[in-house]
Amino acid sequence: MAVRGMMFMGMTVILLSLTGAKLGACLILDYYAFACPFAEFIVRDTVNRAIQRDMSIAAGLLRMHFHDCFVEGCDGSILIDSTSENKAEKDSPANLSLRGYEVIDEAKEMIEDRCPGVVSCADIIAMAARDAVLFSGGPMYDVPKGRKDGRRSRIMDTINLPFATFNASQLIRAFGERGLSAREMVVLSGGHTLGVARCSSFKNRVSNSNSEVEGSSNVQFLATLKSACSKGDDATVAFDESVNDFDNSYFMGLEEGMGVLSSDQTLMSSSATRGVVGMYASNQASFFFDFSQAMLKLGTVGVKDVPNGDVRFNCRQLN
Ligand code: HEM
Ligand SMILES: *[C@@H]1O[C@H](CO)[C@@H](O)[C@H](O)[C@H]1NC(C)=O
Ligand SMILES: *[C@@H]1O[C@H](CO)[C@@H](O)[C@H](O)[C@H]1NC(C)=O
Repeated sequence: MAVRGMMFMGMTVILLSLTGAKLGACLILDYYAFACPFAEFIVRDTVNRAIQRDMSIAAGLLRMHFHDCFVEGCDGSILIDSTSENKAEKDSPANLSLRGYEVIDEAKEMIEDRCPGVVSCADIIAMAARDAVLFSGGPMYDVPKGRKDGRRSRIMDTINLPFATFNASQLIRAFGERGLSAREMVVLSGGHTLGVARCSSFKNRVSNSNSEVEGSSNVQFLATLKSACSKGDDATVAFDESVNDFDNSYFMGLEEGMGVLSSDQTLMSSSATRGVVGMYASNQASFFFDFSQAMLKLGTVGVKDVPNGDVRFNCRQLN
C-alpha cells in the first residue's frame, strides 16, 4: 500500500478493518504533513469564513460527510456533478437539500494552488465536517486522512441512505451494515443538533401518525409540525431549539417527544436505543466523546485506496 511508505515512528496509524470484500486502506493523522502541510489550515480557515457568513452552513457540511460515507464509502462521490451520460448522487431526491458544496470547492481550489493533485476531496469533506462541528461549539477531534476519491457516483446508489420514515430496527440495521452499532447510530443521529428539516421530510408524521414509530411523541409538537407544513413542502423546522449550536438539546428534545423526523423520535420507542438517548440527554460530555469516536468510525466506511480511487483535481468531475 502506497501509504505505508510514508509512515514513520510516532505517527498515529489507524488500520481499518473493513467489513465486506472492499480493499482496505490505512488512514493517518499526518498524512499530508510533507506533501501539503497547509491542508488542515486551509480547510479550517475556509470553513470558519463560510460559517461567519452563514452559521447554518455548518449543518450542511456535517450532513455532507454523512451522505458521502453512507453511499459508496467516504470517497467524495457526493460532490460529483451529473453529466449527460451519468446522473450523479447529487441529483437524487435523497440529496434533500444538501448544502455547502461551494465551501468544499473553495478549500479545494486554495489547496490545489499550493499542492496540486495531493489532497483528496473525500479528506476535505471529512476535515470540513470536523471543523463545522468545532465551530458550532461541538467537540474537537483529529481526522486521520488518506482517503482516495471514488470514480462512481450514481443516482441509484442513494437508495442506501436511511429514510426519515425508518423505525429504530431499520436504522440499527442500516448502520449495522456499515459496521456501526446501535449506540453509534444514536450518537451520530445527534448530528441533528444542527440544522433543519423540510416539511417534505416529516409530513408522514403530520398526515398519519404511527404510534409504533412515534413512541412518546408530543401532541403539541405534532401541531407545530403540521402548521409548518401548511406553508408548503419546503417550510423548515429546526431539529432542536438551538439550531446552530452543537449541544445535547437534540436528545433532551427527544425525551419530550419533540423529535422532528420519525427516525428521530423512534429512538425513544425502542428499548435498544431509549437508554442511550437518556444518557446523552443528561450528559453532554459523554455525547461529545462518543460522537467524536463515532465520527472517526463513520469516516472509515468504505474508504478507497489506489487503484480503486485517486485524487480528483476538481471535486465535481472525475479526472
Ligand atoms: C439516522 C439516520 C438519518 C436520517 C434518516 C436522516 C435524515 C435527514 C433528513 C430527512 C434531513 C432533512 C433534510 C431536509 O428536509 O432538507 C436531515 C438533515 C440533516 N442531517 Fe440527517 N439523517 C440521519 C442521520 C444523520 C447523521 C448520522 C448526521 C451527521 C452526523 C446527520 C446530519 C444532518 C444534518 C446536520 C442535517 C441538517 C442539514 C441542514 O440544515 O442543511 N444526519 N437528515
Ligand atoms: C437535488 O436533487 C434535485 C432533484 O431531485 C435537484 O433539482 C437539485 O438541484 C439537487 N440539489 C443539489 C444541491 O444538487
Ligand atoms: C420496523 O419496520 C419494519 C419494516 O417495515 C417492520 O417489519 C418492523 O416490525 C418495524 N418494527 C417496529 C418495532 O415497529
